[in-house]
Amino acid sequence: MEPGFAIKQYPDVAEIYDRIGKLVAQPIRPVRREEMEKYLEGFQKKYASSKPVIEQAKKYIPGGVQHNLAFNYPFPIVFDRAEGASLYDKDGNRHIDFLQAGGPTILGSNYPAVKERILHLINTTGPSTGLFHEYELKIAEFICTHIPGVDMFRMLGSGTEGCMAAIRVARLATGKKNIIKMGGAYHGWSDSLVYALRLPGTAGFDAHGIPRASRKYTQEAFPNDIRSLERKLRMNRLKGQGTAAVIVEPMGTESGTRPVDRDHNKQIRELCDRYGALLIFDEVVTAFRIGISGAQGYFGVKPDLTVFGKVVAGGYPAAGGLGGSRELMEYLAAGLQTGKKRAMVGGTLAANPLSSAAGYYTLVEIEKQSACEKAGEAGDRLTKGLQELIRSFDLPFVAYNQGSICHLETTGTMFLPINMKKFWTIPAVLKEIKVRKHMMEEMGAAYMMEGIVTLAGSRMYTSMADTNEVIDEALEGFERVFRKM
Ligand SMILES: Cc1ncc(COP(=O)(O)O)c(C=O)c1O
Repeated sequence: MEPGFAIKQYPDVAEIYDRIGKLVAQPIRPVRREEMEKYLEGFQKKYASSKPVIEQAKKYIPGGVQHNLAFNYPFPIVFDRAEGASLYDKDGNRHIDFLQAGGPTILGSNYPAVKERILHLINTTGPSTGLFHEYELKIAEFICTHIPGVDMFRMLGSGTEGCMAAIRVARLATGKKNIIKMGGAYHGWSDSLVYALRLPGTAGFDAHGIPRASRKYTQEAFPNDIRSLERKLRMNRLKGQGTAAVIVEPMGTESGTRPVDRDHNKQIRELCDRYGALLIFDEVVTAFRIGISGAQGYFGVKPDLTVFGKVVAGGYPAAGGLGGSRELMEYLAAGLQTGKKRAMVGGTLAANPLSSAAGYYTLVEIEKQSACEKAGEAGDRLTKGLQELIRSFDLPFVAYNQGSICHLETTGTMFLPINMKKFWTIPAVLKEIKVRKHMMEEMGAAYMMEGIVTLAGSRMYTSMADTNEVIDEALEGFERVFRKM
């Protein structure tokens, strides 16, 4: 293993794409119908106490849950206890937690050394005062000394806010407007960045309620395709507009679901320098998970701006931030007094003492406990075990990981080709997506019934709390599902 990092061996990206190509080219291989019916029947009984709560919630909460991650098929489950690697629901069922609140809890849920500090803080300061607390300095100092591309750090309320701030600073600093993102990447839900979500080529497909003008300067390049990016940069230069920034998830779109070649980020850095665009790393998922120096430390590539979220507040609320060179970050402090133009950011509860302290102690513990490495080892064990199961049951599925970010593609839903220019092909693709998405939901339900919580039935985050025993127990659960295919 490269010291300090979660990734022992970089995945064979070409092989992953090849196998996923084959998965997508063939019909789905779901759990046998009668077995799935048994799972769904059992689901009603196992989660009997959750169902009425969700029914009630549907009256008051749009869709019944407040967060996409909580959408479980056939109905969401009410969880009321989390500890280490385990989640417990209202009926007292224990599950292995591979959702990890969407990524933040790399130490395991409710990590005692952080919780104690937070309880102390609550007893003394309370969660917020609106005034400066020393933890703001402590977390900023930690991040600036550990993340190569960060000289200064501004804490914000979410990853979405971090991405908004990043493109605002980039536009102000370069005087240009165009932002290029990779098709399929998620950078939060701001007006400018709800563009080409999940599937490359989908442009404004999901941008309902967003005026066209808001995404006028957002463009997409095809992920892991350096020539596609160069074409966009060249075109922007030829038109005389240039490019303010290229924003990427350094492991690949959708948290590495579409992984990038090992040298891809270096190539992007070179292109950005050549075309005078800033490089923004969206490290909302990867910072303090791939390593304490982030994915940028792992790849040895220094972005101009870095967006933070998730682990940056250790699973406590208000997780977001922006970091970068002093020169760029000073745009956030400029204003009337300095005579410089200011990139406006804000947030009543941004950098409150609770978020700052939770983030600070989480980062300290991650470093002290070598949490990224341990979580990465768990991810390797899980992925290797899944690959063996896939082989032994002769299934077309694809398991791969980037350390503690693990992917189990059973449908390849996010790899179906959408081409807005060939609009007549879209209905057929959408129909196929619907079928494959439903299979993913059913897989999620089957895993849940075997005591495993995943992210949408296809992604799993591992944590330091995932011992060999936990991973082996999970693999037994996956085996029971695969036996029914
Ligand atoms: C890569 C990436 N960027 C940005 C975001 C948005 O972060 P938040 O949900 O904190 O707004 C996410 C959320 O999942 C993400 O995965």
